This record gives sequence, structure tokens and C-alpha cells, in this order.
Amino acid sequence: MSLSINPRSRQIKPPGIRQFSNQLIHYPDAVNLTVGQPDFPTPEAVKQAGIAAIQANQTGYSHNAGLPALREAASRFISQKFNATYDPIKEIIVTNGATEAIDSIFRTILEPGDEVIIPAPIYSGYEPLIELSGARVVYLDTSHTGLQPDAYSIEQAITPSTKAILFNNPSNPTGVTMDKQRIDEIVEVLKNKDLFILSDEIYSENVFDGQHVSFASYPEIRRQLFLIHGVSKSHSMTGWRIGFIFGDAEWIATITLLHAYNTICASVPAQHATIEALTGSIDAPLEMNKAYRVRRDFVYDRLLKLGMEVEKPQGAFYIFPSIRTYGLSSFDFATRLLQEGGVAVVPGSVFTPFGEGFIRISFAYSMEQLILGMDRLEAFTLNLQRETSPVISASNSKM
Ligand SMILES: Cc1ncc(COP(=O)(O)O)c(C=O)c1O
Repeated sequence: MSLSINPRSRQIKPPGIRQFSNQLIHYPDAVNLTVGQPDFPTPEAVKQAGIAAIQANQTGYSHNAGLPALREAASRFISQKFNATYDPIKEIIVTNGATEAIDSIFRTILEPGDEVIIPAPIYSGYEPLIELSGARVVYLDTSHTGLQPDAYSIEQAITPSTKAILFNNPSNPTGVTMDKQRIDEIVEVLKNKDLFILSDEIYSENVFDGQHVSFASYPEIRRQLFLIHGVSKSHSMTGWRIGFIFGDAEWIATITLLHAYNTICASVPAQHATIEALTGSIDAPLEMNKAYRVRRDFVYDRLLKLGMEVEKPQGAFYIFPSIRTYGLSSFDFATRLLQEGGVAVVPGSVFTPFGEGFIRISFAYSMEQLILGMDRLEAFTLNLQRETSPVISASNSKM
């Protein structure tokens, strides 16, 4: 027998982030600051809507593109938040989380040889999906430009093979958000170009300062744009698995077919719960943001006091300090921090090679855990400094 599998699927690597979460079982007393999901329960009214749907036997399939009532709610949500109009019948698909939205779009648009530009460091979930299609990722280094892409370098990166560009705003892993002027300039470069724009705005409801600016608010790129959204982060619903694609009717028709064969439809009780999330509980993220803002300020201040170079995150729930001054790779830094310091964080190199020199700290944790985590990080970095400056520490010890 000669059984073989698609060689492209052999290339898929396990998510780097798991390596750290998996190590954690060996360090039961470690403070875990690795996980990228809200630490709040799903809002009560949303849970009740899901329970009510099950009790009313709303447990069959829905339309492939999702319950009409949910697509209408999603359409109103996008119009209210981003001033963008998407037809609930022809331009919205309810997916199994943002992840399936991204996969279905890539499978629909990409061909072998295509290139997808992604500003990096970036969430590691996109690359394997692109490569499975035989396409290639071209990362755009933002590690020395405030962790943000700019219109000029995007224009330089575009080649005849560029099929799409993907943005994640606010960003996982950096927490950085793009302001209106930056997006205006990027849109100016991208409009009328023969390439698709994917904008993963799953963290749009978790913005702490200022207002989220969506690519969906720019009519000049409407035909090129796929807006990826969902309630995983905004409503603490990661396990319910509901996301959305908003796009031009021409492409949505084809993606709906692919989605139908791939998954038939998203979970129907979860769709009912999401109607409540986008209507009665639309403001639930505001409460969570109050807590995130306090935690963000606390962690940011502590990192500054440690002398770390760090951008103040304006959104999501991550902070991405530079650890370059410690002379360790991000993997070694994070490993030693876990083993010697008792804190788990994610090495920046998990988020492409351009994340090297940074670590990602999630502040989707209680203040108690964050205080303990920062105290331990401080003790660990002081030890590291003593190690790397033996002369200073020896002379200090005589004092
Ligand atoms: C940027 C980004 N996009 C998408 C996802 C996945 O979202 P979902 O749970 O809706 O599939 C994540 C999860 O961490 C993420 O950080």
C-alpha cells in the first residue's frame, strides 16, 4: 500500500502558543498570562437566549448563511458602529467563529502562487490557511516602526502576484490600533488595485482610547473588502463559535457555497444567543473594557518602571514589550521566565520572525494574577540584569 496525504498539510506546524500553554502543566504555581480569551463569563442575557433556543427546540440546521434574524442584527450592528451598509440577504455569512470566516475567504480567493501581504508581528492563525491553498505569505516588518504598517511600505510590497492584504486592527499580539489618518493613507494606496483586502476586526469592541476606525467605513474599497468579525472577544463567547463575513454580494455568493459544503451552517443555538449579543447586550463589552483599561494601565506602568520599551496598547487585551536589552531570544526569555520566574507569557517569535525581541502578555486576567505576574517578572528581570552585569552586582553586594 502506498498511502499519502497532501504534502501541504504535512507542513502545518502546531501553534507555537500551545507549546507554552502545554508546558504550564509542569509548573502548577506559575501565573499564566498567555491566553487570548476574555476571563469574564458570557453576559447573562446572551446565555439565557442560547438556553431558550435549545428549550424551544431551535436545534436544527439554519440557512447556510445563517439565521436571517441574526444577519439582520449583524447588518444593523455594522451600520450603527461603522456606518457601512451590508445587505443581510446577500452580503453577510454567519461562520464558525472568525477562524472559519478567514479560512472560507482564503479558500475562495487564493490560487497556488498567489501572495498575501500581512503586516507583522501578527497572530499565527492566518499563515497555515494561506499555505494550504498553495499561496504564500509576505510579511511586512513593522517591528521598528511602532508595530504599525504604513502606506508607503505597503505600496512597496505589492507585486503582480499579490492577491490580498490582511490587516488585524486592533492587533493580536501588539494591542496597537491604527488611527484614521493611517487608514486613510492605506486606503488611498489600495483603492482601485486588483487585490482583496481582508480586515480582521474581531477586537473592534475592545478599544480603550479613542474610536475604532473600520476599513468598512470606506466605500471606495467596498468591492475589494472582506470584513471579518465575531463575538468571541467582544462578548466573551469564544466557545460558542460565531463569526461573520461581510463582503460584496458577488463574492459572498461563492463563499456561501464553500461554507455550505464545509460546515452547512453555524451552531443554531449559538446563533440565537448572538442575536441577543448584537441587540439587547450590544453594550456588554463596555463593562469588560473598564476592567481591561485598569489592567492595561497597571501592566503598562509596571513594564515602564522595569525600563522596558513598550507601545501602550489601545485595544485588544495584549501588551507587547521589547525584551531586546536582555540579550536572550524571546523563546529563551519566555522559557526561563516560566522555569525560573514562575510566569508564562508568549514569545514574540510565535508571531512571525518579526516578533523576535518581544513577548506577549495577555491582560485578560484578574488584577491579583497580574500583580503577582508583574512582581515575579520584576524579580526575574532583576536577576537577569545581575547575570549580565556581574561587575555591577558584585560591587553592589559589597555595599
Ligand atoms: C486576530 C484574531 N483573529 C481571529 C481569532 C479567532 O477568533 P474566533 O474565536 O472567532 O474564531 C483570534 C483568536 O485569538 C484572533 O486573535
